[in-house]
Parts: sequence; C-alpha cells; structure tokens
Amino acid sequence: METPPMISGGLPIIGHIAEMLRDRERLFKRGHAEHGDLFAMKLGPQPVLVITGAEYNRTFYLETDKSLNMQDGYSFLKEAIGEVLFTASQDDYYNQRPALQEVFKRERMVSYLKAMNIEVQRWLDSLGHSGEIDITESMLHLTQYVAGRALIGPDFEQELGAEFWDLYKDISASLDPVLPPNLPLPKFWRRDKAKKKIMTILKGLIQKRRDHPERYDDLITTLLTTPLKDGTTMPDDTIVIMFMGLIFAGHETTAGQAAWVIALLLQHPEYLGLVNAEIRDKAAYGQEIDAGVLSKFDHIFWAIDETTRLRPSADTQLRTVSSPITIGNYEIPAGWRLMVSGATSHFMPGVFSNPEAFDPLRYSPERGEGKNPFAIIGFGGGIHKCTGMNFAKNEMAIITALFLQQFDVELLSQDIHVVAGNGANHPSEVFVRYQRKPLTALTDATTIREAAAAGCPHIRQHMSAEQN
Ligand code: HEM
Repeated sequence: METPPMISGGLPIIGHIAEMLRDRERLFKRGHAEHGDLFAMKLGPQPVLVITGAEYNRTFYLETDKSLNMQDGYSFLKEAIGEVLFTASQDDYYNQRPALQEVFKRERMVSYLKAMNIEVQRWLDSLGHSGEIDITESMLHLTQYVAGRALIGPDFEQELGAEFWDLYKDISASLDPVLPPNLPLPKFWRRDKAKKKIMTILKGLIQKRRDHPERYDDLITTLLTTPLKDGTTMPDDTIVIMFMGLIFAGHETTAGQAAWVIALLLQHPEYLGLVNAEIRDKAAYGQEIDAGVLSKFDHIFWAIDETTRLRPSADTQLRTVSSPITIGNYEIPAGWRLMVSGATSHFMPGVFSNPEAFDPLRYSPERGEGKNPFAIIGFGGGIHKCTGMNFAKNEMAIITALFLQQFDVELLSQDIHVVAGNGANHPSEVFVRYQRKPLTALTDATTIREAAAAGCPHIRQHMSAEQN
C-alpha cells in the first residue's frame, strides 16, 4: 500500500510544528488544496495523517478505543488536570463512565437550565442602562458562574472562594501540547502550586458532602454516590480530577463558542432579524427559558450549529494509531497520529452549499444540510462525543435569547478573528455597544405593574436601570 502524501513546506527536524502553532487552519486548508482528503504532515519526528470528510471522520471516531487510542494525544493534559475521562487509561475510563452518564442524564438538565437562567439574568442585571463591553471577556466570566451554580449549587461563590478561578487560570495557562510538562518553567511551577490549592479547596467541599449528603444534590454528591462499573465509588482524588476535567472540557469551549454566536449574529443583520423575531414570539419577558421554551427555538439553534461549523472551539481532535489501520488507500502503521480537522471537513462544497457563508438556514428541514453525524466535528463523535453538548448548546441559546431579548446591541469590533486559546479557540475582542430596551417594548403595562407589585427583582432592576 502507498504512503499518504506529505504536505509541502516541512522544515528539517521540526517539520510543520511552527506553521501548525502559527495558523493551523491555513496549514490544513493548504494541505487539502495540495492533496485532497488525506494528507500527512510532520510535527517534529511525529507523522500525522490529517483526514477530511464524514466517511473518514466516522472511522476516526468509531475506531477510538479499538485501533486508535485517545489518551496519548492528550497526554499534555495529564500533568495539568490529572488522569480522568479521556486522559485516563481505557479501563479507568469505562469504569468511571456510569458516573459521567449520571451527571448528564436528562432529568438533571432541569436544574442546569435554572442555573443558566439565574446566572445569565444576573449578568444582564449588572449591565446597567447602556454601555460597551467585550463579549469574549464577558462570556469567560459568565460561563464560570454558570458552571459554578450548575455543578456546585447556589452557594458556589462562597464554597469555591474568590481565588478558585485565578487558580484555574494558572492551570489552563500551563497547557502546552509541545513542551515536556515538567520543564523548570514558571508557568509549570504556577500550575503545580495552583493544583495543590485547588485540591485543598475541593477536598473541603467533598468532606462537607460526605458528612451531610442529604443537604446536597450537586455534581460532587453525584460523583460520591454513583456506583462505578466495578461496584466501588469514586475516591476523593478522582472526584477532584473529574471536577477539574469537566470544568476544563466545558468552560473555555463554551465561552469561546458563545462569543462567536453573538459576533456572527451581529455581523449578519438579516439572520439576526429572524432570531429576534423568534425570541419575541417564543420567549416571554420574565419567563424562565426552560426546556419547553428551548424546544420552540429553531433559528437560535441553527445559528449555534453554523457557529460550530464555521468557528469551532474544538477545531481538531487527535488519536494515536495503536494497531495498523486502513484509511482510504493507505495502511497507517502503529505510532502514527490521526487528526480530524474542522478547517477542511466543515468546508466541503459537496456537503455544504456555499461553505464559506454564514447560512444557518442550511440546517432547516427544507434544506437538511449537515445531517451526517460525522460531517461536523465540533463536538466530536462516537463513544467519546461531547457529553456536555446539550448543556453547552442550551447555555448558548439562553445567553443569546436573554441578551437579545433585553438589549439592543450594536457590533463595534471590525476585525474579529480566531485566537487559538489554551483550552479552546475563541474570538478576539468582540466589543459591542448595548442599550437596555424599554420595559414597555418587552411586555405589557399590566404585567409590569403586577410584577413590580409582587417585587420581581428583574423588573425592579430593569426599571431602575431605565431611570438612570
Ligand atoms: C461549545 C462547547 C463545547 C465544545 C465545543 C466541546 C467539544 C468537545 C469535543 C470535541 C469533545 C471530544 C474530544 C475528542 O473526541 O477528542 C468533547 C468531549 C467532552 N466534553 Fe465537551 N465541549 C463543549 C462543552 C462541554 C461542556 C459544557 C461539558 C461539561 C460540562 C463538556 C464535557 C465533555 C466531556 C466530559 C467530554 C469527554 C467525553 C468522553 O470522553 O466520553 N463539554 N467535548
């Protein structure tokens, strides 16, 4: 069998590492233009096969944990977060899986949605009457609050303490897929110090729940009490690592994607009009955006899907070949790496019409594009497909709906581009000017009077912001 064609431009020793770190989207697009759906590159001595298209992506996801191994590719995460989920051994992963499924089972979504509504509204209430903000920055904080309230409960701020997210930042900033994780560098020292402190904070939370499990119904209690596959329960150290793993998997990814959803909508006023009409018709002001309301949204979810295609937070995923595998005409030997790429798969002209365009209506039933579950790789696929996908999509929908419901928003930033973050991609600054809509534009006079008389805090907040 043949060897996959190598993308041009590799340098001695480092191969394509520098270009990969500089602009991997361009590198992948170049490789695809040169060789089509299967091409190789070198990251140092390491050969990597980059694959494109639903058929090859399907093999990638369905062969994971068989001839493909997920752990080696993410080994740089082990030092930062620990061995859990896809950084743990396959045996440990399958042993821990029942706890992961329990955390994300359908019934729990009701309380997660409540947490999202509370925190998004708290953010909106803090915005005052009008002003300018960077949505990219705001989403980073908002998704922290949502994660805190959803996973720890209403006392999360007091329980995690003021320091927690700064410590998390030191861990996230240490992520480095290239350098050995134990080099004597300040960022690795800061990581180790932060890990120790986080371990102390979270172990305190675990102990409180061990002492009084009846007082809590949150992530940690779920992890404490759910039997694993082997019948045991999770030890405290693993609970801490699982918590950190979930925060890592779900925080910067959602923040980046949520910011892109707002940016892309503001850049496309025609489609924004459809979204605004949907919010006006389907989400009454003052009403919680619960599962019933969410189920009536189409345009918002299509915008989220289109954002996942055009600006994926997780634009690549990696596997190591553990036993030889045939991909197309090539037999790929053990030791090679395999990579899926949104930069190429998400822009296939035969799959997506006018693929460069932001066109969420492509997902409407009439057009039905992107139906193949392996065509868009932004949330992965197969057994390891993002467990938090519905959590993230619902969170993005609630943020978008409540923000646009209550504010007129104008985009100020001109050149918004992808920034490859440590945890996930995010947009550069997305500065917007916002102005609170008058209450009378949101609901009728009787509802306002009744809600104000009943002491509704949001109506009061809105009224006082209007007067300032
Ligand atoms: C827009 C937001 C998100 C994006 C783009 C995203 C993306 C992904 C991707 C691509 C994978 C698969 C990785 C691979 O196959 O190599 C994944 C896995 C995972 N994600 Fe997400 N994710 C998001 C939000 C979340 C949230 C909010 C949570 C939890 C609160 C979460 C928890 C997980 C977990 C636990 C896994 C591992 C699943 C397994 O190995 O079985 N994610 N995510």
